[in-house]
Amino acid sequence: MALVEDTTDPKHNLQAARQAYYERISRYDMAPLWEKLRELVGNEPRTQCAPAIWRFRDVKAMVMESAELISAREAERRVLVLENPALRGQSRITQTLYAGLQLIMPGEIAPAHRHTASAIRFIVDGNGAYTSVEGERTYMSPGDFVLTANWTAHDHGNTSDRPMIWLDVLDLPTVNFFETMFAEHLESESQAVRHQDGDSAAFFASGVLPDGAQMGAQVGARFGAKLGAKCSPVVNYTYARTRPILERLYNAGEVDRRHGARVRYANPATGGWVMPTMGAQLALLPAGFAGERYRATDGTIFVCVEGEGATRIGDKDFTWSAGDVFVAPSWQYYSHTAGPQSVLFSISDRPAQEALGIWRESN
Ligand SMILES: [Fe+2]
Repeated sequence: MALVEDTTDPKHNLQAARQAYYERISRYDMAPLWEKLRELVGNEPRTQCAPAIWRFRDVKAMVMESAELISAREAERRVLVLENPALRGQSRITQTLYAGLQLIMPGEIAPAHRHTASAIRFIVDGNGAYTSVEGERTYMSPGDFVLTANWTAHDHGNTSDRPMIWLDVLDLPTVNFFETMFAEHLESESQAVRHQDGDSAAFFASGVLPDGAQMGAQVGARFGAKLGAKCSPVVNYTYARTRPILERLYNAGEVDRRHGARVRYANPATGGWVMPTMGAQLALLPAGFAGERYRATDGTIFVCVEGEGATRIGDKDFTWSAGDVFVAPSWQYYSHTAGPQSVLFSISDRPAQEALGIWRESN
């Protein structure tokens, strides 16, 4: 009987034999690679993320409403997470990065803590709230780019009379992927101020470095034991300082056909990215700019700081204006167009990919 089946339907028998074999090895927590090989080793990246936009005019009122429901102290950080629509429930905007809009009301404090995840703030709305990082209190304005690197103590407060909203971006999914998260709350809610606002930028990002024995120790503490040279010691790359550089770059004719007149935020100790897990840029798109298409393996979060325009991502068009946040997934073509002169901030996991030797780009 078996012999007849073998000769009339060998394919069926082979499938059945394979299936029985898979079930048998499965009981020993093994599986056949050949059934998954194409999925695991694709010819090019197939992103799980969707391109998406959060328009400030749509979401601002909802962010503000959160203040009626919970205090910054109770929430610890009162943030609405920007969840990639294709990755809902996973608290991430790309596979490796978390993003959220944080609100701090006048008089509120977001208490001091530290964690192995690194964070950046990009200020969207309001003026005069502060972030304190390792005792340097920096007062923030729209367009400022503030770092709280891996394991640096940080707290926030709003001493102004206006609410403040900023974009938080953290490498939370990356740190949690490696299962390396540590965090602790600090005893005092607000850190004592030990430096002047702007000290870190003046000391370490001005083409000079503190000299002398006492300051040498401080340089060592900032560049050495505390952060290592892996993270920039600069707390706030202010818009007031960076914006005019874009204008100079534009006037010098340094306009990339894809990205506009763009600068990369640099770690002054190394010239490399500001952090090993996240890298950021600021770009001026001249009025009427029609950028060439571009793609890279780092899924990228953009914030419109000034102006208005549109970005085509894959086959979708997203119009944007000031305060809008949008995301271009890994390896999807995108191209920017600007109406009036516009400024875009961007951030991605490119430094991590470069360190691993897996980053690629193409036009
Ligand atoms: Fe934090």
